[in-house]
Amino acid sequence: MSEKKSQSDETRGSVEFRTLATESLSRETFPVGGQDPEATYQVLSEELLLDGNSKQNLATFCQTWESNQVHRLMDLAMDKNLIDKDEYPQTAEIERRCVALLADLWNAPKGSQVGCSTIGSSEAAMLGGMAAKWRWREKRRAAGLSTDRPNMVCGSVQICWIKFARYWDIEMREIEMSPGRLCMDPEEVLEKVDENTIFVVPTLGVTYHGLYEDVQAISEALDDLQARTGLDIPIHVDAASGGFLIPFTRGEHKPWDFQLERVKSINSSGHKFGLAPLGVGWILWREKKDLPEELVFHVSYLGGDMPTFQINFSRPAGQVIAQYYDFVRLGRSGYAEIHNGSHEVAQYFCSILKTLGEFDIIHDGAPEMGIPAVVWTLPEGANPGYNLYDLADRLRMRGWQVPAYPLTGTYKATPVQRILVKLGFTKEMADLLLQHVKEALDYFQKHPAHTPLSAEEGGSYCHL
Ligand SMILES: Cc1ncc(COP(=O)(O)O)c(C=O)c1O
Repeated sequence: MSEKKSQSDETRGSVEFRTLATESLSRETFPVGGQDPEATYQVLSEELLLDGNSKQNLATFCQTWESNQVHRLMDLAMDKNLIDKDEYPQTAEIERRCVALLADLWNAPKGSQVGCSTIGSSEAAMLGGMAAKWRWREKRRAAGLSTDRPNMVCGSVQICWIKFARYWDIEMREIEMSPGRLCMDPEEVLEKVDENTIFVVPTLGVTYHGLYEDVQAISEALDDLQARTGLDIPIHVDAASGGFLIPFTRGEHKPWDFQLERVKSINSSGHKFGLAPLGVGWILWREKKDLPEELVFHVSYLGGDMPTFQINFSRPAGQVIAQYYDFVRLGRSGYAEIHNGSHEVAQYFCSILKTLGEFDIIHDGAPEMGIPAVVWTLPEGANPGYNLYDLADRLRMRGWQVPAYPLTGTYKATPVQRILVKLGFTKEMADLLLQHVKEALDYFQKHPAHTPLSAEEGGSYCHL
């Protein structure tokens, strides 16, 4: 720290810095000449201070803190390209080990380790979706049936699935929220599926409210459908957050993973509750046959052959190495300690928030119900002199990013507000946020908002 400070003091005092400080960095045209590296670094790093403070970013699901060891490993891996399996065989081995460890964690059939890293859950969703489309098409072609109208059935999903459906020409049959049904219901799933359904996608937990959808109940409903009609519809689980929470957190969790025969693939974000730095996700298939061979490309590896399936070619290797570090450094007990701690802080935050008497709670952060998040709304018909967009705006003045946004279906005009509790959000910080919420409510009591903010004006990026 002090070394960094003295270096920046020295730079600030330099002639190069003083020269740069009186000029703007080139913004529109490619600069003709270069300039001093330290002074440039200093100016740029100070510009970055204008970004939000990630410690107070309670909107993102992604990690905002990494250990010193992870920083050092990332530095070591700066020059490694994950695709160059031949040049970096040990990194390729580390990626293989991660897939093996995840296959174990998610109860894949013994000896089955089919999967890969991705840049995040969005790429993983794309790969899982493509594999499902290809499997469905193959089956239909073999039976001499048409393949021109594939569809998928899901609840209120993250935007990556809307992209997948649009890019791959899939009809999306989304089950939106309705009274008493914030998660996808097995009966509604059965109403939507047909012979053209490539898969059903339950989410753990739903981005809007963090609650876990009931994969087991959906799987059983589809088993029943198959017994009655012969229709065999696979499940892909979007466990972007839950994949790295449910295996570790306390309380009773129903089977959701490869223990269920119908679950053919699972995605999760390493950079969310997997605790790795930004830029890594995972997708695993139940068995080799669930990933169609046509989609797999082969690269040479130690003179041999390495199958790959990904959208990008070049990709940084550091995130995968850091992910493996997290797995072996923390083990199951370390992940359990961290994530149960986050649930505790979330539940603590919620218990105090409730005492303010202003909000209805949608998710209180209980580990059996969903991810370590707290989600609340104003009671129907309440007119407290502000709305949740006003509150989000007011909290932003203290640096907090606590997004407000509407739900879907019946609730598409109902704003909710959410915090995500991750490693690094301590009870101390929860107390400070609660204090700032109380101050904001006091402010609105004295100065009610005459023209409350709209979703467009007050909505911040909420990762939906
Ligand atoms: C349920 C769900 N799926 C997919 C994604 C996309 O994940 P990523 O940001 O890793 O691409 C998110 C992101 O928040 C999510 O919550």
